[in-house]
Amino acid sequence: HFVAVLKGGMSSEREVSLSSALECAKALRVAGFEVVEVDAGPDLPARLAEIQPDVVFNALHGRWGEDGCVQGLLEWLRIPYTHSGVLASALAMDKTRAKEAFRAAGLPVVDSLIADKAEVMARHVMPVPYVVKSNNEGSSVNVHIVAAGANGPPALPEQMPARVMVETYVPGRELTCSVMDDHAFCVTELLTDGWYDYTAKYAAAGGARHVCPALIPDDVAQAVRDYSLRAHLALGCRGLSRADFRWDDTRGIDGLVLLEINTQPGMTPTSLAPEQAAAEGIDFPTLCRRLVEDASC
Ligand code: DAL
Ligand code: MG
Repeated sequence: HFVAVLKGGMSSEREVSLSSALECAKALRVAGFEVVEVDAGPDLPARLAEIQPDVVFNALHGRWGEDGCVQGLLEWLRIPYTHSGVLASALAMDKTRAKEAFRAAGLPVVDSLIADKAEVMARHVMPVPYVVKSNNEGSSVNVHIVAAGANGPPALPEQMPARVMVETYVPGRELTCSVMDDHAFCVTELLTDGWYDYTAKYAAAGGARHVCPALIPDDVAQAVRDYSLRAHLALGCRGLSRADFRWDDTRGIDGLVLLEINTQPGMTPTSLAPEQAAAEGIDFPTLCRRLVEDASC
């Protein structure tokens, strides 16, 4: 197989993608594939027509790479590609619409609303504490926590989109679980000093500590795996996905809430899905190989 690894792109998670792609390209070479790395700019259709890969390995994150856009292009070009297809990608990237699908599937999600940025900055649009985030970005880019003690509404930065999602803050612990081939991997707990923000996610040292398997009660771990798989199926995901949760451990299993699902989970050296796969005995080259074998269009 001749594999083109798509990297970079034009989203706020470009740097994360460059790191994911580097790791995946290395692993695919170890797995025996012929690999070319392609920076996903505006000339991508022409580049793919020129290269003619057997399979595209999608290592993009964020808008255009994770939201169904590049998936649509690859369908159009009839090139098999890894991870989720157009609809699952578009749904998962829209946090609000994903939540509607999760709710319909009986999964526990937390209340949220979409509001104008100007309004969110003018008054508390829901009782504190709450979280203001972009409806369609990952890696904790543009996430703001409005704490219980906050006396005024948040001052949101310039680069925040004009419409934002405002979500009830769930106290407690951060859990995550990946799914591949309709099988849930083991659960990770993230331990951080503050919250699990961009720096905690990607700083090589002094970032978050990952505990995998998480030291949590069996019934909670089982529920995380069960919800992760059901979320993957509810959106019609393919290949690999990773579900993110908050767990209020004072409320037992009722304190577990699904935040979102990532159809292009990070593959960087500090990322979670590769670690969870390794805990199941699946090394990184095997993980990447299986994604290539699962590619379709
Ligand atoms: N959005 C990043 C890449 C993740 O979910 O891992
Ligand atoms: Mg995300």
